[in-house]
Amino acid sequence: MSSILTNELQGEDYDWEKELKAFDETKAGTKGLVDSGINILPKMFIQPFDEMVQKSSINDANLRVPVIDLAGLDNDTDRERIVQEVLHASQKWGFFHVLNHGIPMDVLDGIIEGIKMFHEQDIETKKEFYGRRKKQVEYNSNYDMRMKAAIWRDTLTVNCSYTDHLDPKLLPPICRNAILDHTNQVLKLGNTILELLSLALGLKPDCLKEMESDKGWTCVYHYYPPCPQPELALGTEKHSDSSFITVLAQNQIGGLQVLHENQWVDVHPIPDALIINIGDILQMISNDKLKSVLHRVRANRDGPRISAALFFTGLATSPKNYAPIKELISEQNPPMYREFTIGEFIANYFSRPLNEDRYHHFMIKDSEPSK
Ligand code: OGA
Ligand code: NI
Repeated sequence: MSSILTNELQGEDYDWEKELKAFDETKAGTKGLVDSGINILPKMFIQPFDEMVQKSSINDANLRVPVIDLAGLDNDTDRERIVQEVLHASQKWGFFHVLNHGIPMDVLDGIIEGIKMFHEQDIETKKEFYGRRKKQVEYNSNYDMRMKAAIWRDTLTVNCSYTDHLDPKLLPPICRNAILDHTNQVLKLGNTILELLSLALGLKPDCLKEMESDKGWTCVYHYYPPCPQPELALGTEKHSDSSFITVLAQNQIGGLQVLHENQWVDVHPIPDALIINIGDILQMISNDKLKSVLHRVRANRDGPRISAALFFTGLATSPKNYAPIKELISEQNPPMYREFTIGEFIANYFSRPLNEDRYHHFMIKDSEPSK
């Protein structure tokens, strides 16, 4: 596939916005397209050539996202080892798998099955939830309509970034209990991870919690149907997360990739493991000690791929000011970011398409650019 061909496919007379709008109005998502029996990819999903997943960029098989076993967290020796592993992974990769995380397998299987049932249920029931950044619980395809190409994915979002309160009655009945169990468990695990990250930064264990990093969250429940021409499309475009940390559960289909030393590395699913990644807010308050890394999801011929990502966002309504943590700055290591509130950060995050830089807006101009 050459860039010339891509441009031809998206020729001048082609009305991208019109096609996207018509697709949006079906409220049936990419799942609806698959059900209608399409076997070629509609044009609006064709990515610009530079964004396509290049076959030639074969990963170095030795490059693997670190796996951290949390068993033994309660004894001092293991804990110290775990903290060092968390530090290393968060500095070098921004991503790590965790094993023995304490979340029962039936809760994880339950959420994967619950998401599948939500997206595969009767279309009329599912349509009721269709919306875009209006309701606390909503489903859509392409949550942002300003992108370069449509993405091959449907998502149910539960937004508790503006209020910690969630009325369970707002949740789709078909996956209500699965969501309640999943969020309860992940919020608990997140607290443990925030403690480990505080220690990894050389701070007291409840430092990040005191900064209200555990207050306010958003969870996205993704469904990536099998794609007829996966090499032309993307499931999730490259981005970094607008969170302190993100906790990701996924089924075994695969497709997540992280940008590591300028190479896209496949994150192979590990049964029973969860993935943790560092988001932009933690990168900023750690003054770039921990890295919020770009990642994306390939479209797949197999599927559906299912994932649940819970973002610890902080509360967007909090008046609290955030800035690089005092203990982490010095004359040699001056603050790289100015003060911001979570509300300000989130507003900036959504003010532009997803794959554009998030934290540049808050950088102090004469500091070193972040890698
Ligand atoms: C996200 C994300 C990855 C996945 O929702 O921010 O990166 O595996 N999801 O679905
Ligand atoms: Ni992400």
